[in-house]
Amino acid sequence: MSDMLNRRDFLTRMWKAGITLIGAAGIWTSWDLLQPLEASGFGGKVRTVPPEAVPETGAIEVPQARAYLVRIDGQVKALSEKCTHLGCRVPFCNTSSQFECPCHGTTFNRAGDYRSGPAPRGMDEYPIEIGEEDGLIYIDTGAVIEGPAPGVITADEPATGPSCTDSGHEA
Ligand code: FES
Repeated sequence: MSDMLNRRDFLTRMWKAGITLIGAAGIWTSWDLLQPLEASGFGGKVRTVPPEAVPETGAIEVPQARAYLVRIDGQVKALSEKCTHLGCRVPFCNTSSQFECPCHGTTFNRAGDYRSGPAPRGMDEYPIEIGEEDGLIYIDTGAVIEGPAPGVITADEPATGPSCTDSGHEA
């Protein structure tokens, strides 16, 4: 009889332990699923290059971030390549050292300031941060900073030469 009770007691305990484990697994899975995923492509933080790789002139295109890295007065900034007019991709023109939109001719200086054309403002910017472990620049493409209004000039960088488009011209 005593053996029978011990066996029943043992089975009851095992049953309770099993239910507890299943419940704990369910809670863990739910908690895990609700954690935000670390984004690593466009829409999240995009790993790029070391700060010292960004030159004082020109612009580095980062296709994964749909952005450019430029250095203005020693400070690195990330500019969205999406035109603030109707969203065309804005290339950097090496001869003029400006961004020149091929769609309707808006031009922006190397800092992304509006210079001419139909766009309502300068180029939008993304926040950047330096990775603690790898020392690389991360562009946060999930947070857009609206570009400056026309007339706001953050860098005195006039065109350095001929435009790359027929419509690109100095303001
Ligand atoms: S989309 Fe760039 S000027 Fe219109």
